[in-house]
Amino acid sequence: MKAVLCKAWGPPDSLVLETLPDLVPGAGEVVIDVKAAGVNFPDVLIIQNKYQAKPQLPFSPGSELAGVVNAVGEGVTHVKPGDNVIAYLGNGAFASQAKAPAAAVVPMPPGIDFETAAAFTLTYGTSHHAVIDRGELKAGQTMLVLGAAGGVGLAAIEIGKAIGARVIAAASTDEKLAVCKDHGADALINYSTEDLRERVKALTDGRGPDVIYDPVGGIYAEPAFRSIGWLNLALLKGASLVGVFWGDFARREPKANQANMAQMLGWMKEGKIRPHISARYALEQAPQALKDMEARKVTGKIVIVP
Ligand SMILES: NC(=O)c1ccc[n+]([C@@H]2O[C@H](COP(=O)([O-])OP(=O)(O)OC[C@H]3O[C@@H](n4cnc5c(N)ncnc54)[C@H](OP(=O)(O)O)[C@@H]3O)[C@@H](O)[C@H]2O)c1
Repeated sequence: MKAVLCKAWGPPDSLVLETLPDLVPGAGEVVIDVKAAGVNFPDVLIIQNKYQAKPQLPFSPGSELAGVVNAVGEGVTHVKPGDNVIAYLGNGAFASQAKAPAAAVVPMPPGIDFETAAAFTLTYGTSHHAVIDRGELKAGQTMLVLGAAGGVGLAAIEIGKAIGARVIAAASTDEKLAVCKDHGADALINYSTEDLRERVKALTDGRGPDVIYDPVGGIYAEPAFRSIGWLNLALLKGASLVGVFWGDFARREPKANQANMAQMLGWMKEGKIRPHISARYALEQAPQALKDMEARKVTGKIVIVP
């Protein structure tokens, strides 16, 4: 098997591609031939030791994949060799083979391809939990999404529209905003060229959005929060600021997470959501994929195709 390895903490160019022995599943484990792996912003952080999870060196980055079961260990009954599956792992997806605990492996729903299946779990899982469970967005309300053309941002737009909300997308370039519009955004703000607060005010008849989704926490967080509507600003308006940690939610409340994912697979069948894959990279191009993500060049999702 071939694997992209992080052998020392550092920038994407410090990753190396190596040939390793094929994997063998232990009890309760599944070995998967990887057909596609989704790239996420945390992958950029984790290899530089800037993420909350700190794997032991060396490791392969990459937390989500779709592929074909190669072998299963003792006690695994819900999937078998030859099955198409999706897996969500801590790390290890940027490789031609990956090993996952059985509980992290689910059959791939019919009708979707490997790349779409690999690009779905983390961003859509995060945004569903953020927008609906934590933000409590309701039909008829207005949500402002910052970084809206990114992986979690674009997913949030589609989820907001799927439940009948009005969505205002904010991003740094007109090209990114065109992608947001194509995925359903009702109104657009270019925060590099326009005044965010003024535009939000104008687009909401002075009322402000009910929910703001900020996946970045950068310079636009405060101006956005100051423009929130009454219902929802701590102290002055009765608003609240809530945190989101999807990974821990999925571990602590697996049934609720599964229900969220099932709802979104239904929406996918109905054409209400469609993961936007903007670029594909070979395994040896994994450093470039992470550099593009770090440089804000990515729209929607990018995938590694071993
Ligand atoms: N809490 C959780 O459970 C959870 C789960 C998954 C992801 N996340 C976090 O959510 C964030 C977004 O993830 P993602 O996969 O959607 O990433 P992404 O695809 O790279 O999108 C992030 C967007 O943020 C904007 N941005 C603003 N400042 C940036 C900067 N300094 N560097 C990079 N992008 C910047 C960019 O849009 P513009 O150029 O338009 O500003 C970019 O499109 C990441 O911080 C990630 O770690 C959190």
